[in-house]
Amino acid sequence: MGSGSKSARDPSAVAIRGMISSDVPAVLSILRKSPEASLWSEKSLLESAAQGWAWVAEQDGTVAGFLIGRAVADEFEILNMAVARGHRRRGIGGQLVRQTLQRVRKSGARSAHLEVRASNQAAIHLYQLHGFAASGRREQYYQHPPEDALLFTMEWKSTEE
Ligand SMILES: CC(C)(COP(=O)(O)OP(=O)(O)OC[C@H]1O[C@@H](n2cnc3c(N)ncnc32)[C@H](O)[C@@H]1OP(=O)(O)O)[C@@H](O)C(=O)NCCC(=O)NCCS
Repeated sequence: MGSGSKSARDPSAVAIRGMISSDVPAVLSILRKSPEASLWSEKSLLESAAQGWAWVAEQDGTVAGFLIGRAVADEFEILNMAVARGHRRRGIGGQLVRQTLQRVRKSGARSAHLEVRASNQAAIHLYQLHGFAASGRREQYYQHPPEDALLFTMEWKSTEE
């Protein structure tokens, strides 16, 4: 790689920050083009932004992806995430997962969980790459089309960094 401006594949060119209400139209636009993710309403996205467990990946002033979770006691759950089609395979999804998990650990989470469609190889690879382990299966959990959910979990020992 030669020198010059930061490459689109350079993860350092991506900023992960909390989602704010003005991000919601961009997030909705990503969701509408990402049928593998759950198509949430504008109202739900605004609520998530207000609750503080939602982050966006910003690159060159553009919202390129998002991750929304929730925390219950010391468990964190990833509820929804997607990266805009034109920004995929550049490490943005990985940055979202890695940085979000660092932040929720710092705020006291001891484990992280998620569900994913059994056919969603891109997301399954991403989660495994970032330390999630398969922990179960829910038969016919999804509709339109009907499909099993795979459950993934990551647990942190209190002594881990
Ligand atoms: C899943 C998703 C968020 C990944 O985002 P991304 O920015 O492309 O992810 P990354 O570039 O960080 O990819 C990291 C790794 O994940 C795996 N991966 C990503 N996309 C993949 C694909 N299409 N096929 C296979 N593996 C894939 C690879 O191991 C990849 O590493 P590599 O590029 O070095 O091979 C993105 O594909 C997406 O938005 N999909 C639609 C919505 C969705 O499925 N959401 C999850 C719902 S649970």
